[in-house]
Amino acid sequence: ADPDPLQDFCVADLSASGAVNGFPCKPVSNTTADDFFFDGLSKQGNTSNVFGAQVTTANVLAFPGLNTLGIAMNRVDFAPGGLNPPHSHPRASESGVVIEGKLLVGFVTTRNVYYSKVLSAGQMFVIPRGLVHFQLNVGEGKALAFTAFNSHLPGSVVLPLNLFTSTPLLPDQVLTKAFQVDEDVINGIRSKFGV
Ligand code: GLV
Ligand code: MN
Repeated sequence: ADPDPLQDFCVADLSASGAVNGFPCKPVSNTTADDFFFDGLSKQGNTSNVFGAQVTTANVLAFPGLNTLGIAMNRVDFAPGGLNPPHSHPRASESGVVIEGKLLVGFVTTRNVYYSKVLSAGQMFVIPRGLVHFQLNVGEGKALAFTAFNSHLPGSVVLPLNLFTSTPLLPDQVLTKAFQVDEDVINGIRSKFGV
């Protein structure tokens, strides 16, 4: 989904300021082999949180060598029963492969049609760009998946956090009307997220 690169590579200078769509390149003379390798996905993510899942990102912010190349990856760890909650990526389609465990993977289209399947190790899925999707660990033990994106910065709109924990908060009137519930339900949801 990202624009095509105009040179072999453009390792991001994340500290550079300036108005560009992306990040400026660090000088080629300062570029080393280390810029093209990344071990941030080698460690298991900490799943001790309300969702029981952790997404570890390898996008341009974590791995500057990806800058302008139009690709990124994530590692997603799941405790038993863990959920990578409904979210969407505004700038990328996603493909993924289950490495360990059993995941219910689903997405919903713009016409509110839900597609899903339970996957185990070695099986793949694809999430079309921008559509709301999730993965739920439905196996006995922990689960692990790796995902890949056609953007160096896919972005992630995590619906429960976006709607209930924004800064500043959305007006109660918006949420009570949108979900057809009373304010105490909205406050109950917020309190679970520490808001
Ligand atoms: C999974 O949906 C991910 O965004 O890595
Ligand atoms: Mn995703």
